[in-house]
Amino acid sequence: MGFCGPHQNPDVEHRANDLHTRNPATILRGGFSTTFHAGNVTNQPAVHRLYGATHMSETTNGKLNRKLRMALVGGGQGSFIGRVHATAAVLDNRASLVAGALSSDPVRAKASAPAYDIPESRAYGSVEEMIQKEKALPADQRIDFVSVATPNHTHFQIAKSAAEAGFNVVCDKPMTFDFVQAEELVTAVENSGVVFAVSHNYTGYPLVRQAREMILSGELGEINAIRSNYIQGWLRTRLEASDQKQAAWRTDPKRSGAAGCFGDIGTHAYNLGRYMTGLLPAEISCSLKVFAEGRALDDYGHAVVRFENGAIGTVTASQISHGRENDLFIEVDGTKGALQWRQEEPNVMIVRRNGSPHQMYTRDPNAPFMNSMGKAACRLPSGHPEAFFEAFANVYRFAYDDMAARATGETFEKRDTIYPNVYDGAEGMYFIQQCVASSQQNGAWLPMKYSGARR
Ligand SMILES: NC(=O)c1ccc[n+]([C@@H]2O[C@H](COP(=O)([O-])OP(=O)(O)OC[C@H]3O[C@@H](n4cnc5c(N)ncnc54)[C@H](O)[C@@H]3O)[C@@H](O)[C@H]2O)c1
Repeated sequence: MGFCGPHQNPDVEHRANDLHTRNPATILRGGFSTTFHAGNVTNQPAVHRLYGATHMSETTNGKLNRKLRMALVGGGQGSFIGRVHATAAVLDNRASLVAGALSSDPVRAKASAPAYDIPESRAYGSVEEMIQKEKALPADQRIDFVSVATPNHTHFQIAKSAAEAGFNVVCDKPMTFDFVQAEELVTAVENSGVVFAVSHNYTGYPLVRQAREMILSGELGEINAIRSNYIQGWLRTRLEASDQKQAAWRTDPKRSGAAGCFGDIGTHAYNLGRYMTGLLPAEISCSLKVFAEGRALDDYGHAVVRFENGAIGTVTASQISHGRENDLFIEVDGTKGALQWRQEEPNVMIVRRNGSPHQMYTRDPNAPFMNSMGKAACRLPSGHPEAFFEAFANVYRFAYDDMAARATGETFEKRDTIYPNVYDGAEGMYFIQQCVASSQQNGAWLPMKYSGARR
């Protein structure tokens, strides 16, 4: 592959900056919110240069001037993503994990707490107990937000009760069990005014954010096509029959939802295409399939999306492809250029233009070719790989800006947020619903316009 360092186009830079004039303070705070960040990049962080800013907040979470207090739900012994939430949430030293309801089993919930340094007094046996007791604590002790890292069928009740109690929420995907619940959750979030982030964590990679800003500012021209794939192989056999915890609930319609593979990872692939391009979908056709005999939910699927601007998108998700791990891979074709990015090699992005050498972008917060979104999502200088934890932490980092704003009585963006929000979560649930319905109707074209869709 030919290598050519991408060059900065001042005109593009200018337009890219315009994208953020609606909330430049957020970008600044997001990029330089922590001593960890500033200490590890350079003396002159790139976003400072970009915005000509002369200072960064010396306090934790700006005006709030303290760490945010986190509660974790899920993440008990033997679980997977709860530990990732707990690690990512504190990466920038802007939050402390102080409470939790860590397991569906009250004994295990309490037994899991020491591994997180959660004190016994705040290791709760259930979410209900946690919300009730935390609400009753003095304001300078009670939690600010709840992270939901439990199986899909439990998200709605936990997230809704947290929002209604006034706690901000970071909820894992798929956001709810079905679209009806998702719409109800949107209403609860709007009524409560809490900050609500959804951990579509792949949106947090610096080069994904770089790509989004490049596309929205027109660098690739009009977008004609998106190919987004999430390919795994771990459910090739019926692992669920062996009592494997993560496989068991993911393949159970009562706990996973109407879709299996498409709900679990198809939603990530769909969300990534939407986030990167901002294209608004119009219609969808889908074919889902169960290949492992006896399994109740799809383990492979393919959807075609027609976008409002005439672009075509494809989403392929598999959990039965031998040897494939977490191969989330996206390609975007525009009239002026095409790009590709792969999460298993997240610090590289390829941009191609006919007649020019292929360009390999590396994640470099100090390079002139990186735009403001890309730079603000970096922590380390180039060449030190950043990956899953850091991207996950970027969902938190930008949600923290809004949580701090809410806590100090400032207004904050609700819909067009840098991190995936409750509307993105609801759109994901609509995607699942329409995919399952289309597949049941032999791939019929169904509407895919969601009123809360962002650009
Ligand atoms: N964003 C990502 O990249 C990503 C990756 C993996 C999983 N996920 C999502 O995270 C969620 C959890 O997945 P996992 O693989 O970690 O599951 P898991 O089975 O490994 O862990 C689930 C944990 O939740 C606990 N739990 C269940 N019901 C509970 C309740 N009512 N109250 C308190 N705790 C409860 C379980 O005891 C367990 O500790 C799922 O929604 C999944 O789709 C997201």
